[in-house]
Amino acid sequence: MILKGKKGIIFGALNDQSIAWKVAELCKAEGAEIVLTNAPVAFRLGTINELAQKLDAQVISCDATKVEDLDNLIAKSQEILGGKIDFVLHSIGMSLNIRKGRSYTDINYDWMQQTFDISAISFHKLMQSLWKADAMNDWGSILALTYIAAQRVFPHYSEMAESKALLESFARSFGYHFGVKNKVRVNTISQSPTVTTAGSGIKGFDEFLNYAEKMSPIGNAPAEACANYCVSMFSDYTRYVTMQNLYHDGGFSSVGMSGLLMEVGE
Ligand SMILES: NC(=O)c1ccc[n+]([C@@H]2O[C@H](COP(=O)([O-])OP(=O)(O)OC[C@H]3O[C@@H](n4cnc5c(N)ncnc54)[C@H](O)[C@@H]3O)[C@@H](O)[C@H]2O)c1
Repeated sequence: MILKGKKGIIFGALNDQSIAWKVAELCKAEGAEIVLTNAPVAFRLGTINELAQKLDAQVISCDATKVEDLDNLIAKSQEILGGKIDFVLHSIGMSLNIRKGRSYTDINYDWMQQTFDISAISFHKLMQSLWKADAMNDWGSILALTYIAAQRVFPHYSEMAESKALLESFARSFGYHFGVKNKVRVNTISQSPTVTTAGSGIKGFDEFLNYAEKMSPIGNAPAEACANYCVSMFSDYTRYVTMQNLYHDGGFSSVGMSGLLMEVGE
C-alpha cells in the first residue's frame, strides 16, 4: 500500500478506457483517498459516476479552463479528504480543430486557442489555484500526461503537438516554484499511444498503434502500466524526481530504426 494515508485529486476519467480511470483504481488499491473530477459535459458523455460508486469516492464537476471551478474543486476536495492534497493527476486533452476535421494548414485560430486552454493552460491554472490556496502538502506530487509529438512531428496530431510542448514547459517552470516552496514535484509522463476516447480521435490511429508497437522494443505501454508509473510517481519512492518529461513508451523515443518495421527480423 504505497499510497496509504495520501490524498489525491484525479482529473479525466471519462470511461473505463480512460488512463485516469486506471490510475484512480490503482490509487485506491494502494491505500489513497481520492476525489474524482471531470468537465460537466463528461458526466453526460461518460460513466464517471460508476467509477465513483465502485471506489466509494466523491465526484466534483470542474471545467479545468475555469479558475473559479478549480478554486471550488480544491476547497471542496480538502473538506472531503480532511486536509491538504498529496497528489494530483491532470489527464486532460482535446483538440477542437482535430474534432471538427480542420487540417493543420487550415487551422481555425479561435479553436486553436481553446485547444491550448483545455489541454495545456488548464495545467498552469490548476497549479496556480493549488499554489494560491496553499493546498499541497510538503513532498506532494503533481503529474500531467503528455505525448512525444511535443518533440517530434506526428502530422495527424495537429495542434495537440504544440499543446503538449506548452504543457511540458509549464511542468518545468511551475516545478521550479513548487520545489522551492515546499518540495512539491511536478512532472509529465509521455505515454505510448493508447486506445481511449481522446486517442482514437486521431486520424489513422489504429494503423499508427501498430506502427508504434513495432517501433517500441518492449511494445506499446498499456493504460494499466501507465497507471503503475503514475502511482509510483505519487509515492514516496520518487521524491527527488521533478521538472522532468518521463517517457513511458516501451523504448519508442530512443529508436532510430526498427528491424521489425522493416520486416528484416530484429
Ligand atoms: N490515448 C493516447 O494515445 C494518449 C497518449 C499519450 C498521452 N495521452 C494523454 O492522456 C490524457 C488522458 O487522455 P485519455 O487518452 O485517457 O483519453 P480520455 O478521452 O479518456 O480523457 C481525456 C479527458 O479530458 C477531459 N476533458 C476535456 N476537456 C476538459 C475540460 N475543459 N475540463 C476538464 N476535463 C476535460 C475529458 O472529459 C476526458 O475525461 C490526455 O492528456 C491525453 O492527451 C493520451
